[in-house]
Amino acid sequence: MANENVLIGVIGGSGLYHLDNLTFVKKVNPETPWGFPSSPITISSLPSGAHIAFLARHGAHHTLSPSSLPSRANIAALKSLGVRVVLAFSAVGSLREEIPPGAFVLPTQVIDRTKGVRPVSFFEGTSVVAHAAFGDPFCGGLVRWLEGRVRRVLEGLGEGEAGEGGLGKREVFTDKCIICMEGPQFSTRAESIMYRQWGADLINMSVLPEAKLAREAEISYALIATATDYDSWRPHSASVTAADVFATLKANAHVSRLVAAIVIEELHTAITSGGVSVPSGKAEGEEEEESI
Ligand code: ADE
Repeated sequence: MANENVLIGVIGGSGLYHLDNLTFVKKVNPETPWGFPSSPITISSLPSGAHIAFLARHGAHHTLSPSSLPSRANIAALKSLGVRVVLAFSAVGSLREEIPPGAFVLPTQVIDRTKGVRPVSFFEGTSVVAHAAFGDPFCGGLVRWLEGRVRRVLEGLGEGEAGEGGLGKREVFTDKCIICMEGPQFSTRAESIMYRQWGADLINMSVLPEAKLAREAEISYALIATATDYDSWRPHSASVTAADVFATLKANAHVSRLVAAIVIEELHTAITSGGVSVPSGKAEGEEEEESI
């Protein structure tokens, strides 16, 4: 399967179950040692002819909760196709007044509050003891590269394209910290306030262990988070409900598809011309990192 030579994988979060402006090539459903991915993976071609892979994190019909995602199978399946860079989209709650629903955020840090119930390593259950560096959980070069591109796309959105729902101007933030919690219930007000005191800016239920597994698999990984709500820390506002999240989800997914359509083609060019540095994905002993 690795000879598919698909460099870029896109993981769609809640609301983002397909991409636009791509030519469908085929669907694949690779079985990995950790089972099948959340959904069959769609391989599409870009206008340049290059192929990309799209995987719906929660399943094509959103049947998988964040706590039951086959994250190891998802990352292993993408790796088996040759993927070296993952752009992961996710709906998130905002823990900061200045990050309104509708904002796009490229976090650079993460706090793990998933309580250890999810398998977090490819090495679990094996005799291999391995400790991957995770001090910088997202690929810094990729995040920096994405920031300008995403901002440019959002600034260029025409009237009506930014999505309904009174979300106003779409902004991009980076250098933010996301906290990943165990669901399915949302946080209490006390937890939400505590997370702010810890320095977290965003909250979701699915960036981990995905980002940890991408690191183990030597895949460059960046999260493109879209804020849907203000969680439960605001003293005079109601605490977040699923309805709040769904109200913003559709419009955010529409804009995410516009962002993806432009950014992926440019990213492919940047990778193949050396503008973005990503791990080579080669075995130990071979060349470690490549500017591709
Ligand atoms: N995903 C979207 N909004 C969220 C919130 N407030 N808490 C956890 N996950 C979320």
